Amino acid sequence: MTSSQVFHGTVIHSLGPDQLEVIENGLIIIGPDGAISDLAKSIPRELFQQHLSSRKPAIEDYEIHYLERGDFLIPGFVDTHNHAPQWAQRGLGQSMHILDWLDKVTFPNEARFRDPEYARRVYSSCVDGFLQQGVTTASYYGSMHAEATKILADLCLEKGQRAFVGKCNMNRNAPDYYRDATVESSLKDTEDCIAHIRAIDPEGHFIKHVLTPRFAITCEDALLAGLGEIAKANPDLPIQTHFNEAEQEMSFTKTLFPSFENEADLYEHFGLLTKRSILAHCCYMSEYELERVKDIECGVAHCPISNMTVGGGFMAAPVREFLRRDIRVGLGTDSGGGFSSSILDAMRQALVASNAREVMSQGQDKVLSIAEVFYLATLGGARVCCLEDRVGNFAVGKEFDALIVSSKSRRPGVMTMVEGEDTPQTIFEKFIMTGDDRNIKQVFVRGRSVKD
Ligand code: GUN
Ligand code: FE
Repeated sequence: MTSSQVFHGTVIHSLGPDQLEVIENGLIIIGPDGAISDLAKSIPRELFQQHLSSRKPAIEDYEIHYLERGDFLIPGFVDTHNHAPQWAQRGLGQSMHILDWLDKVTFPNEARFRDPEYARRVYSSCVDGFLQQGVTTASYYGSMHAEATKILADLCLEKGQRAFVGKCNMNRNAPDYYRDATVESSLKDTEDCIAHIRAIDPEGHFIKHVLTPRFAITCEDALLAGLGEIAKANPDLPIQTHFNEAEQEMSFTKTLFPSFENEADLYEHFGLLTKRSILAHCCYMSEYELERVKDIECGVAHCPISNMTVGGGFMAAPVREFLRRDIRVGLGTDSGGGFSSSILDAMRQALVASNAREVMSQGQDKVLSIAEVFYLATLGGARVCCLEDRVGNFAVGKEFDALIVSSKSRRPGVMTMVEGEDTPQTIFEKFIMTGDDRNIKQVFVRGRSVKD
């Protein structure tokens, strides 16, 4: 644990989907446990010491961070859907529909994680890469290999990233060299990973195992049922899968499970739809499925980048509809599928997708705002992961997961403020639309600095 810390300067966070709070002369105090003990507004720098003087510890015992003008603090990003083994294949396989892309590009790539040395190398670069880009919480799919999945969990803990880490379950419709040999071995490997993660982080404070049936196409009924049993016996474990992603995927699922009308009924039947479920994509949602997802309180990972590249269509989730119904929704980079693994790019693509949705709905589903896409990337994602009591914004009592964003770069091409013209609001908007990791000066998870 570090000493107490105090940050002074501009603070921007989300209080709700369209409630962006911009605090100038803000002051945030972080205890040695990494939790936020105070958030004060409008404290000019000259009154800063006075504000602290009545507190314990004494001022000299704080580590003080004064933000420069043009810099600001935002909460860390939450990536609700991310395939760690696809870090090495990013960008490959464009123009393919989802099932062809899995067969030709993804399965051969993920099979390489049978080699623990290779897994360590790629996963190390992956976790560093996401931290560098400001992702303080990620929900990761691993490969099908237990050993590699444990390595991923170890690396997240070591490097200080909050993470859900899941051994990917898949025992059919994948090549012989890359699928679980039997239902029993798949479940046993899962139990093994659960035990490992409980051993390295007994309270599950930073790392949890997430049950990860890849999707129904790659899981026999008995495997889905076995995972549903594990979910029932372990109500602390989150669950993730792909859900109504693309037409090719949905129609093949129907042929494999003819007795189910839709994917909501299918996953619910196997005990895999709960409040802890993170459903990736949800591009095609009937009224019935919207109601089921709302009633069961599942979370949705909106992945607009992969949906408009390798998904096999130009269809991304009806986010406006989710927000209207108060269905929990956040953003996912989905890593391998698209042109970028940056949450900033996912925010931009969410805006693009929502423009398309507005046109498709004849103006009914209004385009998202900057405040809304920022919400999705922070507090919305925290809600999807059922971590809103702990992270997502700077409410007192939450843990300090934060980024210091800088708009004072001298490097050509990097987002920079215009002195005398920009306000905190305009710099923030410029960062969301045109910034990148070169603007992210520091990254904190529970008060600990985690960016090099
Ligand atoms: N459906 C099953 N596996 C995958 C995957 O790796 N990526 C995407 N986008 N969809 C999937
Ligand atoms: Fe995915």
